[in-house]
Amino acid sequence: MDKLIITGGTQLSGELRISGAKNAALPILAATLLSEEPVSVGNIPHLHDITTTMQLLGQMGIQLTIDEKMNIEVDSSTITKYEAPYELVKTMRASILVLGPLLSRFGEAHVSLPGGCAIGSRPVDIHIDSLRKMGADIQVEAGYIHAKASRLKGCKLVLDKVTVTGTENLLMAATLAEGTTIIENAAKEPEVSDLAYFLNALGAKITGIGTDVLTIEGVDKLANKDIHYDILPDRIETGTYLIAAAITRGKVKLKDTRPDTLDAVLDKLVEAGAEITTGDDWIELDMHGKQPKAVSVRTAPYPAFPTDMQAQFTAMNCVAEGVGTITETVFENRFMHVQEMQRMGANIQLESNTAICTGQKGLTGAPVMATDLRASASLVLAGLAAEGDTLVDRIYHIDRGYDHIEEKLAQLGATIRRIPR
Ligand code: UD1
Repeated sequence: MDKLIITGGTQLSGELRISGAKNAALPILAATLLSEEPVSVGNIPHLHDITTTMQLLGQMGIQLTIDEKMNIEVDSSTITKYEAPYELVKTMRASILVLGPLLSRFGEAHVSLPGGCAIGSRPVDIHIDSLRKMGADIQVEAGYIHAKASRLKGCKLVLDKVTVTGTENLLMAATLAEGTTIIENAAKEPEVSDLAYFLNALGAKITGIGTDVLTIEGVDKLANKDIHYDILPDRIETGTYLIAAAITRGKVKLKDTRPDTLDAVLDKLVEAGAEITTGDDWIELDMHGKQPKAVSVRTAPYPAFPTDMQAQFTAMNCVAEGVGTITETVFENRFMHVQEMQRMGANIQLESNTAICTGQKGLTGAPVMATDLRASASLVLAGLAAEGDTLVDRIYHIDRGYDHIEEKLAQLGATIRRIPR
């Protein structure tokens, strides 16, 4: 397994281009299953999860063509099977996103149940129960979800919890259902909206985009020709590079991003002492060489502070002035990075779902191990602020979700290199 070695202590500065959002690209690639015409998707990030999604679609018999600019053309007319096998789902939970489109368009889907994962049990009961309400016959047997429906029927769905991929699965399923589906308590994440805009470009009839009530009027088919859709920029990648600059007391300008999707994160960075300037598609952060101030955050569904940014803020709090608390309310077990940071000398106490971080001047480099995607990123950030070398092991997690992280950080002046296995 590859490792990253980071020599900390350099103040980062410079400019970077932000990639397309992983969490928008995955549902949008799944949604291409709904289109009777070939569709082209651009601004695809260079990530392992994208390769997995292409394998997932490819093993169904679907034709995918990718050009040197990472535009992917998908032609689902060649589909031969309606299955997401365990071997792929176990490496990427988001494979569950093919359930809704397969069932809705082809009347059949066999999708391995995603198991537990490093950040909690993460069930998919809301996806299954809601599809049943839409008339699907679903059996869960031998670790697989087997779903059938002649045609799904629109209905009112009130989701028990705000679920991002759950909302996306139901949104996709409802596009071809008979009648109108109303999803209440829908997730409002920008990636859900991006999927909805893509579906409308294909010919779907979705209203209420960006709110917690989505109304989908079912259509007979999605068959608009010559559709090309560019994925929204990645707000979590953006936030991670902003912290990289803040934690090293540096200055960074991030281009091709969307500041309007990062309000909660930018507010906290200002509270931490950063000067933030934004334009329509760029963000600049300047620490003016100052140590950040510790901040307190509480994760919750969008537009509140994202769970996918809490580990990175934990890293920043460890080298900040004062005490900051990080409270996680979305997932039950998302503090695996804390023990690793403690090995680097961080002063963090865990009390139930809250990490209390007492900042100090610096951390010490150490060998550490990543356990999930955002935790891995937070260890890289801690390494940038630490004295000496930090060796981050198991970085396949990082490669799932960060496009060329070591090249991008090196572009900002970081001393970082990949050690191939
Ligand atoms: C998505 C994101 C992930 C992010 C998370 C929360 C993708 C591919 N991944 O994950 O990066 O951290 O949103 O913003 O977009 N739940 C249930 N039953 C269900 C579904 C969810 O109880 O059927 C619970 C989960 O266990 C969790 C909460 O709802 O506690 C939110 O999870 P959810 O929004 O579904 O996360 P994902 O869509 O898996």
